Amino acid sequence: MRSQSADAAAKLILLGEHAVVYGHAALAIPLGKPRAMAVVSRAAAGRPVSVELPDLGLRWDGTAPVPRDAETFARVIRAAAERFPAVPREGWKLTVRSQIPFGCGLGSGSAVAAASFRAIGRFFRVPISPPLLSKMVFAIEKLHHGNPSGIDNTVVAIGRPILFRKGRAPRFLAAPRSPCLMVIGHTGVKHRTSEIVAAVSRARGKDPARYAALFRDIGRLSGQGAKAFQASRWQELGRLMDRNQELLEDIGVSSPKLGTLIRAARKAGALGAKLTGAGRGGCMTALCADAAVARRTARALKAAGAAAIFITEVSRNGKA
Ligand code: PMV
Repeated sequence: MRSQSADAAAKLILLGEHAVVYGHAALAIPLGKPRAMAVVSRAAAGRPVSVELPDLGLRWDGTAPVPRDAETFARVIRAAAERFPAVPREGWKLTVRSQIPFGCGLGSGSAVAAASFRAIGRFFRVPISPPLLSKMVFAIEKLHHGNPSGIDNTVVAIGRPILFRKGRAPRFLAAPRSPCLMVIGHTGVKHRTSEIVAAVSRARGKDPARYAALFRDIGRLSGQGAKAFQASRWQELGRLMDRNQELLEDIGVSSPKLGTLIRAARKAGALGAKLTGAGRGGCMTALCADAAVARRTARALKAAGAAAIFITEVSRNGKA
């Protein structure tokens, strides 16, 4: 076998980011696109495992020091070799590409790690079950984010819509019967999840009662949203997203650019719109009843200055 490839979905949090860090529920789905792709191929025997990231124009020959952009993959390679005796520490190469913008709330870090582990598993014929994959991706996420809730790795590794609560088994949701579209707009502003989560934690420390109430309210919206999602009650889900956005603004994680895109989407006819992921930049998402509204929303987002736009369908298998 000369090479094996694998991919992984981006994730989209529909409701519940930040509150999920404090044990409340969040609703998230995998996205059909954008995706991350990894290829494992044979290389010269005796050479350390090398990494190629064509999107970044980066080649790393596997020797110290590890370039910053290759750190995730150095950790993935080490974790795979430590866990699976069949995975050698030399003689192969990992190539990773991603359509998922980095640092924008769509789970790019989890997706590139998951695609890499999957490709490694295929190449060296070690079965990696979705729960094990989720665990291994979580370990990588922890090195980057410090205190991740676990939602990204779970959605990306398991690939199904979930109602997630930290420390509990995820509740898988039934696929909605009628289709609906998501239009995702990127502000063009990269964020660092760990810094935003730390800022929220500091603000919570100064006013614990207020933040407890905000997080509890957000958690409730996620529970209601899961029911609306499964029953394809899109208008209701849109209203819940709008309400969640207000609460995220109260928490202090929105931004003027996010606000501009969110208002533009609503004006174009979206059923609801909110930031998704850690906020203060990154992406927003808008729920659209049909393709015509989605196209109008995408045009409005472009006119309002979105740096990238993705339109995906929430299809019968639950993947958007
Ligand atoms: O921006 P992202 O994709 O890293 O999503 C972060 C979601 C948070 O709830 C803010 C953090 C977490 O670990 O759940």
